[in-house]
Amino acid sequence: MPSIEFRSMDEEDLHALVAWYHEPHVRAWFRDPPADVTAAQVRYGGRLRGEEPARMWVASLEGAPFATVQDYPVDSDDDLAVRVQLPSAVAFDYLIGDPAQVGRGLGARMLTVFLRDVALPGHPDATWFVACPDARNVASLRVLDKLGFVQRQWIQMPGEEYAQIVCRASRDDLARTVTDG
Ligand SMILES: CC(C)(COP(=O)(O)OP(=O)(O)OC[C@H]1O[C@@H](n2cnc3c(N)ncnc32)[C@H](O)[C@@H]1OP(=O)(O)O)[C@@H](O)C(=O)NCCC(=O)NCCS
Repeated sequence: MPSIEFRSMDEEDLHALVAWYHEPHVRAWFRDPPADVTAAQVRYGGRLRGEEPARMWVASLEGAPFATVQDYPVDSDDDLAVRVQLPSAVAFDYLIGDPAQVGRGLGARMLTVFLRDVALPGHPDATWFVACPDARNVASLRVLDKLGFVQRQWIQMPGEEYAQIVCRASRDDLARTVTDG
């Protein structure tokens, strides 16, 4: 089975990141992509330098970058924290940017590796992990379901047109799922 690995994103990845955000299958779910690398440097530079709570990661398949995930403490975002209502939770967002790698079951495998290798060891005090897909994003909700995430409340974030569903999994459950799976 081809191997998936994660590493920290750096400035040199921003070209790929911008291209991924502009792919039609990604734009369907992420509004307002950075227009170009300069705009991405402004928006993400603080995160890449470790000056902000969110951390950004690149996933590679057999050494070829194909996806990205970012994670952040829920309480670093007041609007999210008041809606998620889980102390000590870490949220994560993800996308498979390379269109050739979408629809092949890689989403669940990628997130299994992310949770096992990055999120669980990187947030030792987090008791919950959450992702909040757009309620219409069936593929994303299905991927989370396969990893044992439970759909809870629907939330409406400021400025967003569509509702999102808070999907959550406890640290203990995930530790079993991602190491067994
Ligand atoms: C969402 C995403 C991570 C899913 O990963 P993926 O590997 O492409 O997922 P798959 O296409 O293999 O589908 C996952 C599951 O959803 C199901 N699915 C996908 N589209 C579906 C649809 N329209 N209706 C019903 N089920 C659907 C698949 O059948 C599969 O289920 P199965 O494994 O039980 O057969 C990936 O498509 C992606 O990054 N998309 C663009 C950005 C995005 O949406 N990010 C998530 C934001 S929260």
